[in-house]
Amino acid sequence: MSSKEWKRVALLPGSFDPVTLGHLDLVIRAATLFDEVVVAVLENSSKQPWFSAEGRVLMVQREMSSLKNVRVVRFAGLLVELAEKEGAEVVVRGVRGGSDLEYETVMARMNAHLRPGLDTVFLPSSPHLTHIASRLVREIAYLGGSVKGLVSEKVALAVETRAEEKRAENAFTTRRSAE
Ligand code: PNS
Repeated sequence: MSSKEWKRVALLPGSFDPVTLGHLDLVIRAATLFDEVVVAVLENSSKQPWFSAEGRVLMVQREMSSLKNVRVVRFAGLLVELAEKEGAEVVVRGVRGGSDLEYETVMARMNAHLRPGLDTVFLPSSPHLTHIASRLVREIAYLGGSVKGLVSEKVALAVETRAEEKRAENAFTTRRSAE
């Protein structure tokens, strides 16, 4: 391959349940550092996602549509295998603080063990976004709080709709178990 064709591809994996302004900031910054960023949406999350894999991919695609060197894929299985398939040499992960760093360091070392040569780059979250986590967005929405400033307006609408469904499901389950 000539140096002209050579591209530095980074993989940016996550659950994106839902995609937040923190994720968007991370992807924008990664897109300036690498020739191509492949945003990989984890399909088979053990975390019982609020949104289907298709729904999360669509949301991420819509949020990232203006970024020309960013592609969104859906994946199941090992991240190292996706990295191989996509020709990525680097995994990018955002780090908000100490506990993220501890968890991410183990994952980075495990991925390097599984595929020697695959490195992980940690990007510190931007200071004004460090408090954002998908889990908290879901919790706030479920409890009827505002998720403005944490996710885009379109994602906020989707999250609020899903929160309403979740509340209805839980109310039904509680009623049924009381009968
Ligand atoms: O947004 P998340 O939930 O923190 O992302 C976690 C993710 C998707 C990066 C991680 O669960 C992952 O890489 N899963 C793929 C399975 C895998 O390769 N496991 C071994 C990693 S050490």
